[in-house]
Amino acid sequence: MKKLTQTAVAALIATLGTSAVTSANAEDIKVGLLLPYSGVYAALGNEIEAGFRLGLETFGGETTDTFEIVTEDTEVKPPVALGKAKKLVLQDEVDVLVGIVSSGVLGAVRDFVDGAKVPLIVANAGNDEATGASCSAYITRLSFSNGQVNRPMGTHLYEQGVRKVFTMAPDYAAGRQMIGAFAESFTAAGGEIVGQDWTPFQKTQDFGPYMANAKASGADAVYVFYAGGEAISFVKQYDSFGLKADLPLYGAGFLTSPLYVNAQGPAAIGVIAALHYVPTIENDANKVFVEAFSAANGRSPSEFAVHGYDAARALVLASAGGANDGEALAAALSKTSFDGPRGATSIDPATNNIVQPIYVYETVANENGEGLTQKILATLPATPDAANGCTLGG
Ligand code: BEZ
Repeated sequence: MKKLTQTAVAALIATLGTSAVTSANAEDIKVGLLLPYSGVYAALGNEIEAGFRLGLETFGGETTDTFEIVTEDTEVKPPVALGKAKKLVLQDEVDVLVGIVSSGVLGAVRDFVDGAKVPLIVANAGNDEATGASCSAYITRLSFSNGQVNRPMGTHLYEQGVRKVFTMAPDYAAGRQMIGAFAESFTAAGGEIVGQDWTPFQKTQDFGPYMANAKASGADAVYVFYAGGEAISFVKQYDSFGLKADLPLYGAGFLTSPLYVNAQGPAAIGVIAALHYVPTIENDANKVFVEAFSAANGRSPSEFAVHGYDAARALVLASAGGANDGEALAAALSKTSFDGPRGATSIDPATNNIVQPIYVYETVANENGEGLTQKILATLPATPDAANGCTLGG
């Protein structure tokens, strides 16, 4: 927590001289990591934390400030997460919140964060509203928005010759927004959505009945959003149901994330999806990141790891620039810009949402025959999301 007021700093300058002030300015920034450590997104929470800690290790030397981390488990439950956010801010007195995986959880904590004027770096949840109609000067997103990842896929699939699609997703904000963005651009291009199913979130074990609907629909392809434990089950069941050969499977790229693609095994081969990060992106910053993450964890990083890593980098940049309270940190975060593992990465000050390229990738077998990897098929240009009612840009 920042302890020195401007007046105290001025007094120190007067009595001790500038060199003493340099070390007096080194602050301890308390970070509240608000992530799921249980529930269907538990693995995602752990991965974001691993990326965040690696980011602090890698970039922390660029600031004289130090970072203290307090963690809380959202359990992927909006009311629980809101209670934990209040505890981190009011009891632990954190300077900044980092995390949130579920769009539902982000929707639940938005008003509290905005009212408490505590900066929140969103390190996953894609909820479009948080950088749209419900945007806040205190919320900056270093991950992706649900529309941003899925909108380009509607146009891309139509251009690839797909005409009739059946969609499926868990029935909560992320599922509705991701499929909504895909369907809007796909139908605008001339395609047809021939059927849709919304599976009960965190409750669906057997996707068979929904897959039967897809098979009977007359679609030429299926487009879905699933992540975490649900993605592992869905991809395996899609393959064992025998659908993959007749109905190619497409989706938001969390479906076959490098985090759990090896748990899906050969069932994931041939799935084509879109994402803002895969470990096979070729640039210098990604080479450094993949090497460091692999050395620490014995496997390649996923999109969830890069969210944590880039969130740490943005926080370090803000702190190195002298931001030392909630207001200043929030203002500095919205000016973030760097060349990172995903390519050119910046924050759009009109919405506080990230601007980044989108990669269409296919899951393929590794050349050495061991495990699976991501073959990039297309790089779609970075375009900022529309403000959608957000007035941060004036
Ligand atoms: C979401 O709820 O926004 C979300 C969860 C997991 C992966 C991607 C998005």
